[in-house]
Amino acid sequence: MTRHLLTGTELDRDELGALLDRADALKAAPLSSRALEGRSVALIFEKHSTRTRLSFEAGIFELGGQPIVLRRDELHLARGESVGDTARVLSRHVAAIGLRTGPDALLEELAAASDVPVFNMLTAGHHPCQALADLMTLRAQFGRLEGLKLAYVGDGNNVARSLALVGAIAGVEVTVASPAGYALAGDSAHATLTDDPAEAVAGAHAVYADVWVSMGDEQTADARRSALAPFRIDDALLDRAAPGAIALHCLPAHPGEEITPEVLYGSRQRIWDQAENRRHAQKALLELLVR
Ligand code: CP
Repeated sequence: MTRHLLTGTELDRDELGALLDRADALKAAPLSSRALEGRSVALIFEKHSTRTRLSFEAGIFELGGQPIVLRRDELHLARGESVGDTARVLSRHVAAIGLRTGPDALLEELAAASDVPVFNMLTAGHHPCQALADLMTLRAQFGRLEGLKLAYVGDGNNVARSLALVGAIAGVEVTVASPAGYALAGDSAHATLTDDPAEAVAGAHAVYADVWVSMGDEQTADARRSALAPFRIDDALLDRAAPGAIALHCLPAHPGEEITPEVLYGSRQRIWDQAENRRHAQKALLELLVR
């Protein structure tokens, strides 16, 4: 049975814990695994990326493998070849396939036709690789995940959903604070929802920000900036969280919008560790998927 990672909910709590243990080990010894020796991994990008592309390319190289970055407009996919046929051909050449796209249905279609593991590098609905790095960062800070409280403040988007879903597997209590019209939809049973940032961060161990205008939301940028303005993470909001609380952000940041420069570059953030941990967590994921 080919294993995929489309939402992160494919992992149970024990597997997630083991994956994070491996991520810590790989962070301590980045060249200690040759899990992809002599093999290639296809990385298909239909949207922009800095961290995801960089961390997967570097991580696959560190595992002894070769990343092959493919942009949709370079593939026959852009000229009408089906997603299924693309998956069938890629499966004959690579050990795994990553996809960054819009529709979750397209990722699911790719996985259904693939004989090798498919992993989600961001869709409209989910960003599980980001959540894995975030949990790794939280665990490094607090020494545990069970019982931690994370407050996500802002647009109830794919990152919020993955934090809620994957966090729930690990025992992290996620609260999402969003203005009317931007609340987390869908699998929100895994998160507590509110429209009050102060209520969300009360007792939180981590306060999480994401951009107000995600890729594809550019046409509604003005309305988003207006609605989300009270949902900025600043020192005053962090002061309302638990003592020792940290600030997180999946990046890219827009200092002065969703987060102040004082928090983004200050002593309470672990944001740049998050960005690094993408590589370690994803290497552990690849080890699991290609096993
Ligand atoms: N956080 C994240 O996915 O960053 P990129 O969009 O740069 O890959």
